[in-house]
Amino acid sequence: MTDTAIAWDTYAQQRPERRPTNARGETTWFNWTQYPDHGPGAELLGVAAGSRVLDLGCGKGGNLAHLASLDCSAVGVDVSPAQLQGARERWGQMPGMELHRAEAVEFLRGATGMFDAVYSVYGAVWFTDPARLLPAVRERLRPGGRLVFSQQPPVEGCYGCQASYIPRGADEDPLVVKRWDYEPQVWERLLSEYGFTGTRATVLAAPPGNRTVGTLIIQARA
Ligand SMILES: C[S@@+](CC[C@H](N)C(=O)[O-])C[C@H]1O[C@@H](n2cnc3c(N)ncnc32)[C@H](O)[C@@H]1O
Repeated sequence: MTDTAIAWDTYAQQRPERRPTNARGETTWFNWTQYPDHGPGAELLGVAAGSRVLDLGCGKGGNLAHLASLDCSAVGVDVSPAQLQGARERWGQMPGMELHRAEAVEFLRGATGMFDAVYSVYGAVWFTDPARLLPAVRERLRPGGRLVFSQQPPVEGCYGCQASYIPRGADEDPLVVKRWDYEPQVWERLLSEYGFTGTRATVLAAPPGNRTVGTLIIQARA
């Protein structure tokens, strides 16, 4: 396994399971933010029953399962076997869901057919150099199809490739993965440079409470 896959497997073991139901009592739902029952849903993707949708860095598959429940053909890609194992255990019976263990850019380069939407929730789009990833996504999105992704907004003054630390035991070094942080207007410029149109990057405020970090949501069309 690559160091990246080992790091994300470690992360997988630390993450709590998605709740059985959300505040509305639904068993599947879409969440773009790090807060429960907060923010927009799958409508940002502009897809309908029969659409082919790709989740880059699908993790344990909660968002993907929701799209499958809407009768989309829901394709998920993740580098972490442990994350995918979690997805299979929870959602393996869900028709219309397809899971692949792969690095996002490699998967896109080897993929056939087009997607109606590509998305990533704190996923591979945040953790991959956009100079590699964005052209690969653009190639596989049908004209007019949407790329939508969410991640934490950048810390002021910390832009470009940053280190993210995944903690381990008290006497072990943390594992490191790279992420790419930019201000909203820089994401808009980057996406335009790689041939996307209608780009829009906004920070959704945190819900009322002690937490203050919002969610950067970026939307574009092929
Ligand atoms: C913070 S988790 C988010 C998972 C999921 N999207 C969610 O909302 O729960 C990031 C996920 O992206 C995956 N990932 C990171 N870089 C990747 C890459 N280059 N290709 C594929 N998956 C990647 C990790 O394995 C991990 O499952």
